[in-house]
Amino acid sequence: MEGLKGLILSGGAGTRLRPITHTSAKQLVPVANKPVLFYGIEALVDAGVTEIGIIIAPETGEEIREAAGDGSAFGAEITYIVQDKPAGLAHAVLTAEEFIDGSPFVMYLGDNLLADGLRGLVSTFRSEEPDALILLTPVDDPQSYGVAELDGERIVRLVEKPKDPPSNLALVGVYLFAPPIFDAARALEPSWRGELEITEAIQSLIEEGKAVRSEVVSGWWKDTGQLADMLEANRLVLEEIETRIEGEVDESSRVEGRVVIEKGAVLKGSVVRGPAVIGAGAHIEDAYVGPYTSIGEGVCVRRSEVEHSIILTGSLVEDLGTRMEASLLGREVKLTRSDGMPKTLRMLVGDKSEIKII
Ligand code: G1P
Repeated sequence: MEGLKGLILSGGAGTRLRPITHTSAKQLVPVANKPVLFYGIEALVDAGVTEIGIIIAPETGEEIREAAGDGSAFGAEITYIVQDKPAGLAHAVLTAEEFIDGSPFVMYLGDNLLADGLRGLVSTFRSEEPDALILLTPVDDPQSYGVAELDGERIVRLVEKPKDPPSNLALVGVYLFAPPIFDAARALEPSWRGELEITEAIQSLIEEGKAVRSEVVSGWWKDTGQLADMLEANRLVLEEIETRIEGEVDESSRVEGRVVIEKGAVLKGSVVRGPAVIGAGAHIEDAYVGPYTSIGEGVCVRRSEVEHSIILTGSLVEDLGTRMEASLLGREVKLTRSDGMPKTLRMLVGDKSEIKII
């Protein structure tokens, strides 16, 4: 099978990760200090797919272009394709028709993370040449996904966000397609949520008797569209890091377990207990950074304890007086305590933020 292309979907409004996604694309929120999107690009390149189209939205596209560039940093060649409205995954496929140009392709949802990468799938697709190869995984809340009904190995039916799920096997956001998907997508009507659903396009391939294969993923899979999933993805990726210390650790600090400390980061009088990453130029002072934490570039944490959290570039956490956990702080957020009187809370908080105070 010649010329397998990649199509990464990186549009979408990211409503479930607001307010972070008011100002930034959800696919650029970092997991272990690397944008989620980059994991997808790397997985495609690793599977030998280097001609990659990225679908972007008019609002966040520029930022994505700036981050991923022409793809040369990944050994890929990236073409950007603007989808003028978030009208569904099948609409995104149709938008990319010119770029795909009759090739088979891997479609990858830009906020998805797959532990096992794509090599195995790409090789199955190349050797068996089905019209579609989809991935499935058992989930606790199948109502939130596309769901498959199987008869042995054969897919009988696919339904998008079913009220009454026929199984717990959700469609993972990675699909391999041959050209018939375009006609199937063209024939769709918008669903109840106003989108052209890729799930329905694949269902119509099944009805036409086309070869639709499925595989159940063996490793973990995360759709990082929500805070809890984002933190879980961060935990899973950090689980695999190796220690690398390039920043400065003073004598009164302790680093335990697997920890990455990037260049220019400084640790003073602090304990970092891995797995954790501390970004370039970060300052950790009289602080505790606990397991499963990603501290972004230039972040300051002083006289505070932070665990199982993601803190983005340029933020400040100071004198918290209590441990922060399971949190995601955006860019340049300031979380501090004033010690004057009266003892009040003073905040400047963006739209749709969520803060829990004890
Ligand atoms: C989309 C698909 C759904 C799939 C999910 C995987 O859902 O429509 O079938 O299971 O991605 O992440 P959405 O993110 O649009 O709710």
